[in-house]
Amino acid sequence: MKQKYKPRGSLLAALDIGSAKTACFIGRVVDDEGNFEVVGVGHQASQGVKNGTIVDLREAEAAIRHTVHTAENMAADVMKGYPLREVIVNLPGVHARSTGDAAEVQIMGQEVTDNDVRRALVKAQEKVIGADQELIHTIPVGYKIDGHNGIREPRGMFGQKMQVDIHVVTGDMNALRNLATCIERSHLDITAFCLSPYAAGLASLVEDEMDLGCTVIDIGGGVTSVAVFHGGVLIYSDAIPVGGMHVTSDIAKGLTTSVSDAERLKVLYGSAMASGSDESELIDVPRLGEEDHNEPNHVPRSLLIGIIQPRAEEIFEMVRARLSDSGLGQMLGRRVVLTGGASQIPGLRDLGQHVLDKQVRLGRPIRLGGLPDAVSGPGFATTAGLLTYISERAHEMPADIMEQVEPGTMWERTKLWLHENW
Ligand SMILES: Nc1ncnc2c1ncn2[C@@H]1O[C@H](COP(=O)(O)OP(=O)(O)OP(=O)(O)O)[C@@H](O)[C@H]1O
Ligand SMILES: [Mg+2]
Repeated sequence: MKQKYKPRGSLLAALDIGSAKTACFIGRVVDDEGNFEVVGVGHQASQGVKNGTIVDLREAEAAIRHTVHTAENMAADVMKGYPLREVIVNLPGVHARSTGDAAEVQIMGQEVTDNDVRRALVKAQEKVIGADQELIHTIPVGYKIDGHNGIREPRGMFGQKMQVDIHVVTGDMNALRNLATCIERSHLDITAFCLSPYAAGLASLVEDEMDLGCTVIDIGGGVTSVAVFHGGVLIYSDAIPVGGMHVTSDIAKGLTTSVSDAERLKVLYGSAMASGSDESELIDVPRLGEEDHNEPNHVPRSLLIGIIQPRAEEIFEMVRARLSDSGLGQMLGRRVVLTGGASQIPGLRDLGQHVLDKQVRLGRPIRLGGLPDAVSGPGFATTAGLLTYISERAHEMPADIMEQVEPGTMWERTKLWLHENW
């Protein structure tokens, strides 16, 4: 499908409901290529969300409402007093499934049209859909015409039959319903859902990485999710319900301190790799339950690192196992990009490189103009990517594909149906 960019001046809003924070970006389209600048941001600690799952609708709703208001206030001049109506929302990887399939349609010696491509996509996506799953992304990964492989753009070519290979991402119906409930109660309509690690990749990868094969690993608060890009498109995704909050909770248990002190220690002194000086470096750990912070425990920093490292290693090992089970082999490429708030633990890149045996770099949103410093870090890659998705890849929305497919006249339809089914 030809990309239709949103008209200059359009406003788009992204809502990222994470396990640790809820964030909203409002963007305005500034040119005819779909680029935009951020005109409003809001973020706060999430409430009622655990490991990517909503566990308290009311709390989650309150956090969404507050976050959206903050972003609206910042964008007040641009929005001219109108409230935000529509948002693009993240689908946490733990509630998504990634499936590949294919379908064939008849071209009958004609030129392949946009509508033929849509027909093929609709047919393929219908094969994947299950009762408890909703279609989120339908992504063509390759075409075959009369047995010839490797066609990336079939439109305009001639042939008898065209096959499309697709990658479909579906979302668990119940998780989507819960998300929709909190959002709709905040008086917002959902334009689309976008898989979280996919959005993180769209925000942080350069084109060559997407083309040659690259894996994005988004390590958030409660979920580590994976998106594999190849040939410029998303070809695989997966997720595990473990993230930075588990590291914090390990520290709190291991050093007998509160969760908030553990979080602070992690951010200030944490590392995923040991170094020579950690034995001698002492850090102050406030004792759990004691009011008097004047008498903290003094513990060597190596103890803290000794808690973080095994958990971080475990996360990478689980990701490595999932990737190797995916059967993607060479398609995975050599490159890994880390995003998500927890990717900021020092030493994580080196550890990832070691465990995954790939070239690892740290990512952050690189596509958006006007992003304030406070929200330009890796924790906001998903939020930023939601805007990129709707601006550049809206043609991967299943509803869009179905809406635009032209059934043709009754006779044409019957003819096609006969050809396709007999
Ligand atoms: N400077 C830092 N160093 C280490 N960890 C950090 C730092 N800043 C944030 N984190 C960690 O990042 C995590 C939050 O990341 P992020 O904002 O990506 O999560 P989220 O999107 O809300 O959650 P998820 O995507 O898992 O549902 C927290 O566990 C937090 O401790
Ligand atoms: Mg996240």
